[in-house]
Amino acid sequence: MKLLVILLLFHTTFLMINGQISSITNTHHETYIVHVQKPKNVKSLRSTDLLSWYMSFLPTKTLASGESRIVYAYQTAITGFAARLTKEEVKAMETKEGFIHATKERMLYLHTTHINDFLGLNQGTCLQRDTYLGKGLIIGMLDTGVLPNHPSFKDSGLPHPPTKWKGHCDFKPTTCNNKLIGARSFQRGNKDLPYDAIGHGTHTASIAAGGFVKDAQVLGNAKGTVSGVAPNCHLAIYKVCHSSVCGSTDVLAGIDQAMDDGVDVISLSFGGGAVPFYDDAVAIGALAAVEKGIIVTSSAGNSGPTKGTIENDSPWLITVGASTMDRMIRARVKLGNNEELIGESAYHPSGFTSGFLPIVYPGRHGSSRAKACSDGSLSRLNIKGMVVLCHNSGANTTVEKGIVVKKAGGVAMILINEEDQNMTTRAAAHVLPAAHVSYFDGRRILAYALSKTNPTVTIIFDGTLYGISPAPSVASFSSRGPSSINEGVLKPDIIAPGVNILAAWPSPVGPLSLESPMNSTITSMAFNIVSGTSLSSPVIAGVTTLLKIAHPDWSPAAIKSAIMTTADTLDRDGLPISDLYSMGAGHINPTNANDPGLVYDIVEDDYIAYLCGLGYTDKQVSVVARRIIECASIDPINAEELNYPSVSVALGSKAEKTITRWVMNVGESESLYSVQIKRPEGVEVSVYPEKLSFSKMNQTLSFSLYFSSGDVGAMRGGASEGYLRWVSNKHIVRSPILVTFT
Ligand SMILES: *[C@@H]1O[C@H](CO)[C@@H](O)[C@H](O)[C@H]1NC(C)=O
Ligand SMILES: *[C@@H]1O[C@H](CO)[C@@H](O)[C@H](O)[C@H]1NC(C)=O
Ligand SMILES: *[C@@H]1O[C@H](CO)[C@@H](O)[C@H](O)[C@H]1NC(C)=O
Ligand SMILES: *[C@@H]1O[C@H](CO)[C@@H](O)[C@H](O)[C@H]1NC(C)=O
Repeated sequence: MKLLVILLLFHTTFLMINGQISSITNTHHETYIVHVQKPKNVKSLRSTDLLSWYMSFLPTKTLASGESRIVYAYQTAITGFAARLTKEEVKAMETKEGFIHATKERMLYLHTTHINDFLGLNQGTCLQRDTYLGKGLIIGMLDTGVLPNHPSFKDSGLPHPPTKWKGHCDFKPTTCNNKLIGARSFQRGNKDLPYDAIGHGTHTASIAAGGFVKDAQVLGNAKGTVSGVAPNCHLAIYKVCHSSVCGSTDVLAGIDQAMDDGVDVISLSFGGGAVPFYDDAVAIGALAAVEKGIIVTSSAGNSGPTKGTIENDSPWLITVGASTMDRMIRARVKLGNNEELIGESAYHPSGFTSGFLPIVYPGRHGSSRAKACSDGSLSRLNIKGMVVLCHNSGANTTVEKGIVVKKAGGVAMILINEEDQNMTTRAAAHVLPAAHVSYFDGRRILAYALSKTNPTVTIIFDGTLYGISPAPSVASFSSRGPSSINEGVLKPDIIAPGVNILAAWPSPVGPLSLESPMNSTITSMAFNIVSGTSLSSPVIAGVTTLLKIAHPDWSPAAIKSAIMTTADTLDRDGLPISDLYSMGAGHINPTNANDPGLVYDIVEDDYIAYLCGLGYTDKQVSVVARRIIECASIDPINAEELNYPSVSVALGSKAEKTITRWVMNVGESESLYSVQIKRPEGVEVSVYPEKLSFSKMNQTLSFSLYFSSGDVGAMRGGASEGYLRWVSNKHIVRSPILVTFT
């Protein structure tokens, strides 16, 4: 009897809580992106006309607090606006004529790794031909802002921005120059200046298009002349991320502005989990930009190596994963038994002891926080004078863990990868002597430390080394395909350097950073070494800018095809880099991309046919297309049929499938290509015709790929890899083939 009463009470309480929550949501305003039709009977789409059209959807102009309901009135990327509304108000709006769709604002996160350090860009990996340094083109960086006075953004020798440029500089006008031609901030209507308070935006902008700076270095390491990938290119800064969070309404406002201003390439280094495209403001804005001929590059995410973690998965984006380079800033770990293991750190202290020091392992009996040397977890331990073993887990970045160790009295830190982080180590700008080691090396260190009563260790700093193998390899953190929502197109598209990237930073790093915290209003000559797919997107933004200078008439899809079909699939030792879900078409090869021979182009309406093929309703397709679409009047195409430079097909047992592709000749006017196929295990593949004979430039020819599977059996649910190559005496045009068995 008692029990029953209690249960009833619980039940009532539960209902009451529910009641309270729903009464709160009644007056709870959230920001929505509202897509509407273009106003009818309005002659010019001047912004005032648009604004009054948008206002007509709102119950009131302002909230009771006096705050404006409209946050953004978009003009170019979409017909629609962002506004503060309750759920009920959105419901009421749905009945108004001209309404199409409303989506709640999403928060997107920067793609530096959650373990937030950075690494270095090797000049040798990027095309920097004298004639193609990016002159006259504009890269729009949607990020955390910029430190404008950094030497990487000097404009010596650069021409004025092209006349099409219509952008604005929110800093004092004298702060912008011919390198940094514009800078705006978007934060829900707040008027802050586009200064970079965390470093991410300064770093990514200088990777894409920073100028040459001699004697760049991080704490004496990785010394040399640095520059961005397209050092003569102009930069337009759109600050849409504040601390590490980017609201989708702000991002869409940034894209809207960048399109209006006249940028040629947009780079995005943030994302959220995959969602359907009609609820993905970034995908919608990016399609608008691509239709205008603007290339949009984006980071793949840092949630690897788990499969199905890819972000920014739409076929009109160039989705970029992170690779390692052949440079290492080596910090060797020498155990008391003389065993040596290889680690990395960008901070090489002068005069660090060559003698052995005692090891302490807070994770031995401690919590997961102590194991990770998280903030506050070491204060009660006596670690004075000791070398502390920390796992590379938990919320704090590797540099922050070092701060925690140093504050608790530790003299050095050995940072040990978790199993899924495997071999990817980082040369971060630590505040104390440190070495970051792989999972395997970490296991040996732990085994030694746990087996001895008085384990000891020392760290030997070797400086910057080049020619390290394997390189390139895929970073463990780089997000993997397939997309959890939008399957059918292989993602990522390509990989580019994203581990240990050296580039501009707004403030000193290393031990000095403890004394002078980030102050982005001060001119500084600082650099930092950071890792994340965040840094791979601006590499590709730079490369595609160079390609666009060389080939001004190529569409964004043609340029994507050029970088994908010429990508490297073997590392420098001639071994396969990785699988397709981690590397897509392979590692960027800018020189080859400049002369691909053939390109797979995609014309505008193909994306609409693809959206219809996803099974979206007309309304949902219309939201993404930003115009009224009736799928019944279009021939929908399956994702497999999109004229993509990679091939991804799903097959059941004893199934057959034929897909078609077409290529355009951009090499020699007369050229003959023959097909080569590496057939994925478990399927037969044939191509018809087997030869493509071109007689002029821009000529297009199509071909069919015919697949047939046997009994799928144990391969069901798995995938199999191969490739298709069109080979002439000058060119190899390679497309990866992924077959998934259903
Ligand atoms: C460690 O992470 C916590 C939680 O994110 C943060 O509050 C703290 O400032 C970080 N510690 C350091 C030393 O930065
Ligand atoms: C870790 O890296 C090694 C060497 O590259 C590789 O053989 C192994 O498969 C990787 N392990 C995981 C879990 O990725
Ligand atoms: C940064 O420097 C400026 C100029 O010297 C100064 O006015 C400002 O207070 C500083 N900000 C911080 C957070 O130290
Ligand atoms: C190829 O097409 C582009 C874009 O349409 C055009 O600019 C170029 O002149 C064409 N080349 C030839 C040889 O027809």
